[in-house]
Amino acid sequence: MTVLVLGGAGYIGSHMVDRLVDQGSDVAVVDNLVKGHRAAVRPEARFYKGDVRDKDFMRSVFRQEDIEAVVHFAAFSIVPESMQQPLDYFDNNTAGLISVLEVMNEFNVKRIVFSSTAATYGTPERVPIKETDKQEPINPYGESKLMMEKIMHWSDLAYGIKFVALRYFNVAGAKADGSIGEDHGPETHLVPIVLQVANGQRDKLKIFGSDYDTPDGTNVRDYVHVVDLADAHILALKYLAAGNDSNAFNLGSATGFSNRQILEAARKATGKEIPAEDAPRRPGDPDTLIADSSKARKVLGWKPQYDDIEKIIATAWKWHSTHPNGYNDK
Ligand code: UFG
Repeated sequence: MTVLVLGGAGYIGSHMVDRLVDQGSDVAVVDNLVKGHRAAVRPEARFYKGDVRDKDFMRSVFRQEDIEAVVHFAAFSIVPESMQQPLDYFDNNTAGLISVLEVMNEFNVKRIVFSSTAATYGTPERVPIKETDKQEPINPYGESKLMMEKIMHWSDLAYGIKFVALRYFNVAGAKADGSIGEDHGPETHLVPIVLQVANGQRDKLKIFGSDYDTPDGTNVRDYVHVVDLADAHILALKYLAAGNDSNAFNLGSATGFSNRQILEAARKATGKEIPAEDAPRRPGDPDTLIADSSKARKVLGWKPQYDDIEKIIATAWKWHSTHPNGYNDK
C-alpha cells in the first residue's frame, strides 16, 4: 500500500517524502511544480506532475496507485501574498481540498493528514495557544485553512473520511546533511531571508514592525524544525491507521522567539554580521504566536529532536550556504 504525498516537491513535503522513504514506506508524489522542485523529491518515490484541482488527473493517479492514505501539503502558504491575492488562496487551498476529498471518496480512500496552521487562530487571546482556543483568522491564508478544517469535519461525518489537521507554527531548518531545504521564489520567510543576508545575497534584513506588544517590540513566533514536523505526520498516519477519530494538533516548541532574537541566533549560527534595520509593519502579522503542543506529545507520542533555535538555524545554514540558488545549484 502506498502513501500519496500531495505537494511532495515543496519545502515541507520533500522532507516528508524523505522520511517516509527512509522508513521503508512506498511513496507516490503529486506536485504541479508551481512552487515545488522536482530535484527535491527522492528518486524512490513515483512522481506525477499535475494539479490537485484537476480531478481527471487525480483520478488517473488513484487508478495507478494502491493508495492507503493521503498527506496533503499542496497549498499556498504566504501570509502577505494572501492579503493581496485572497482568491488564489481560496481556489488553490480550499477548492483544491474539495477536489482531493471527492476523488478520495470515489476511490474509497478514507485517511488524510493535512497541513493546517497557527494562522487559523488569528490574534490569540492567550499564549501558549491550545487546540480548543478560538479560531478567528486575520488573513486569507488562515481563513482558507480554517475552511479546509471545517470541510474535513463535515466530510468525515458524511463519508467517513478521517483526518488529522496539523496546525504548524513557524517551520524552519533543513535535513541535517544539507541535501534538501527551503527554496521559495520569491522568498518571504524570516529565517531564509536572514541567511540570504548572511550569504551576501541581500544587503540587509528589514525587520517588519518594532512597536508590537511584545518584550522587544518585534513579532514573536514559535519555530519548529522541518524534520520534526515531518515525523509528526508519520505519527499522525499511524494514529489514523490504528482506527482513531479525526483530530487536530498544534505543532510548535512552546518557546517564542522575537524577530530580533532570530537575527541574533542567526548571527551566532553563521558567524556573520548580518546587517539589519527596522521597517514598517507588514499587514496581517499577529503580535505573538506560541503553541501549546502538549496534545501532540501526549496523543501522537511526538518528541521533537530539535529544541534549540540556533541548531535549527544551523541546519538551514548548511542548506543555504551550499545551495545559494536553491535547487538551481543541483
Ligand atoms: N519578517 C521580517 N522581515 C522579513 C521577513 C519576515 O521582519 O524580511 C517577520 C515577519 O513580519 C514576521 C516574522 O518575521 O513577524 C515571521 O514571518 P514569516 O514570513 O517567516 O512567517 P509568518 O509568521 O508570517 O508565517 C509562517 C508561515 C505561515 C504560518 C505561520 C504560522 O509562513 O504559513 O508561520 O505561525 F501560518
